[in-house]
Amino acid sequence: MLDNVINKCIELLNYKKFFSNRNKVLILFTKEKIIYFDIEINLQTLIDKIPDKLLIPGSFDVFLSLEPTNKKDVFTFSSFLSNFNVSNIFIGTSVGGNDRKYKKVFSAEIDYYYKSYLFTMNNDSPSVTLKLGVSLDGKIALANGESKWITSKKSRADVQLYRASCDALISSSTTIIKDNASLNVRINEFPQIVRMETDESTINEPIIVILDRQNNLTPNLNVFKKNKNIIIFNLVKNDNIIDSNIIQIQIPREYCKENKIDLSYVLKTLKDFNIDQVLIECGSKLASSFLKQRKVNELVLYQAPKIMGGDSFSMFGPMGYTNMNEVIKLSILDITLIGEDLKTVYEVKYE
Ligand SMILES: NC(=O)c1ccc[n+]([C@@H]2O[C@H](COP(=O)([O-])OP(=O)(O)OC[C@H]3O[C@@H](n4cnc5c(N)ncnc54)[C@H](OP(=O)(O)O)[C@@H]3O)[C@@H](O)[C@H]2O)c1
Repeated sequence: MLDNVINKCIELLNYKKFFSNRNKVLILFTKEKIIYFDIEINLQTLIDKIPDKLLIPGSFDVFLSLEPTNKKDVFTFSSFLSNFNVSNIFIGTSVGGNDRKYKKVFSAEIDYYYKSYLFTMNNDSPSVTLKLGVSLDGKIALANGESKWITSKKSRADVQLYRASCDALISSSTTIIKDNASLNVRINEFPQIVRMETDESTINEPIIVILDRQNNLTPNLNVFKKNKNIIIFNLVKNDNIIDSNIIQIQIPREYCKENKIDLSYVLKTLKDFNIDQVLIECGSKLASSFLKQRKVNELVLYQAPKIMGGDSFSMFGPMGYTNMNEVIKLSILDITLIGEDLKTVYEVKYE
């Protein structure tokens, strides 16, 4: 059926217009026929134009052309979807290359938005995605700390899309200092097809959130030069960091036990800032803590065909489990080959 719908649309529209970032195409259809079809530049206008009589929950499937990097539209669409029990949702997107011009929603990128939207509505925390670039043997850095670059340019371009899609990106001062990481969204590194279709003014820049319990950050780091909005969590205010765009939040001592910041406190605070989706880019210590504290909803792994050896840093540190019932279980949502790397998206299952 989807192919028929797409063919019909292509008959109706010039191909370029159809998938352009500026024009949104919305189609409601059943197994038998297209029940509604329209095109508008503004997504909210497009949705508002749907006649009420058609909006019977569960009675139609939806197709929408949508760029996941345009966060405002993703939320508008998610709000629309949350009112209807839609059986199938298809997204036309240029993300992922020509061969994936349209796909069913519940795989890969769009799933990320829709589920996180619903998750945040029902929880005291944003939805959390942990991203790691690893070798075949699950290593994230060599013994001397070097990690540039484990994965390919294409994988790193894909990561840029995740960055542009989240509200906040969390990292540790350890990783930021060791790598002098900028953590900014770099449109010039987007996959070419997305870059061509992307209106730069619609690109979302996430808030950079840095956990810096011991005030190790210094103002000369790249992260401060490349980002506008930064939140630092520390115990006492860091007087070296004076930029007015940087918010410093002091964590109450009771939320910092055994020299570890309570991640529930951090996530709840971010939710109070209206942050719905968080991407984590950090090393093994913080990644393990997020997992152990059951805060990660989704793990995105870019695995390069490289072997870094047992003296390198593993993606996760010690967990202290003694029984197989305790180990963290995941289910695979999506597997894609990106260049020569394998990208796997996992849902983390907490029982
Ligand atoms: N391949 C990749 O995807 C990737 C991504 C990022 C980084 N890296 C590499 O990872 C290495 C750094 O790894 P890392 O393990 O040393 O650093 P990390 O996991 O990024 O950060 C660890 C630090 O985070 C702080 N922290 C705050 N709250 C915490 C909590 N609840 N639990 C645990 N830690 C918490 C701690 O600092 P305090 O004790 O000061 O609070 C801790 O020392 C670097 O070499 C970097 O290149 C690789």
